[in-house]
Amino acid sequence: MQLTEDQIFFFKENGFLLIEDVFNPEEIDLFTTEMNKIISEEDPRRILEKNGSVRTFFAPHLTNEVYDKIHRLDRLVVPAAQLLGSDVYLHQSKINIKAAMVGDWWEWHQDYPYWKNDDGMPRPDVLTAMIFYNDVNEFNSPLILIPSSHKEGVFDDRENIVDVNGQDNEWYAEYLKSAPFMTAVTANLKYKLERETLAEWAEKKGLFSAKGRAGAVLFFHGNIFHASANNLSPWDRFTYLLTYNRVDNKLMDIPNPRPEFISIRKYDPIAPISERLA
Ligand code: SIN
Ligand code: MN
Repeated sequence: MQLTEDQIFFFKENGFLLIEDVFNPEEIDLFTTEMNKIISEEDPRRILEKNGSVRTFFAPHLTNEVYDKIHRLDRLVVPAAQLLGSDVYLHQSKINIKAAMVGDWWEWHQDYPYWKNDDGMPRPDVLTAMIFYNDVNEFNSPLILIPSSHKEGVFDDRENIVDVNGQDNEWYAEYLKSAPFMTAVTANLKYKLERETLAEWAEKKGLFSAKGRAGAVLFFHGNIFHASANNLSPWDRFTYLLTYNRVDNKLMDIPNPRPEFISIRKYDPIAPISERLA
């Protein structure tokens, strides 16, 4: 899938690009079936919500044959390379389960501060492709973004002392202690945006709500401000997020790097494959 000049321009200006019907319904069914198998296993890659349901599963591509193909599809790799202007490799993959009635929020944040400070990524030449497994409407917690906020730079100078969300909930506080890197993904994020910054940008640019049909893909820049509410609707909102980085934006050596399943350190350009998976 080749993007047009207009689509590339739109992404450069706005920091995101939503494309419908990238995956067919049979493919989405297959991804969902495999996902249900993957997340039923206890695994260090599996992160729970404070209510005990599954929130995220990192790097399913390492152990599942179908998932091993998804990130290499030309439908994703070619646009990612066009948008970043270079060959790309996979920096991170994760399934986000925002299940009906229980899926918790993601606070306002940028992604790149984590990759810069926790992984040693030199520049914000990075984006994420989010595949929708369900129709996303205004009720099941679409990702919300502030158009053009990716141009505003990196807000990482106010690392908060992590005030563990649910600290009065004993088992959850214990659970979080077992894996400090989880502060990047729990409902209480480590690097988040301040109210004043958001208010100023939302006032200037408004908010975009990423709604679309199952099979759509949202590409979004590593520096764009984004968030999502908790899912109070009766409809699941499952997504698979693939973070592509430029091959010349390799991670620096840092003390105590995060596990390889959360921060990949293999930089070979992805050779795109051209297949329908179902
Ligand atoms: C993210 O910020 O990485 C994901 C947010 C979401 O799934 O809503
Ligand atoms: Mn994010």
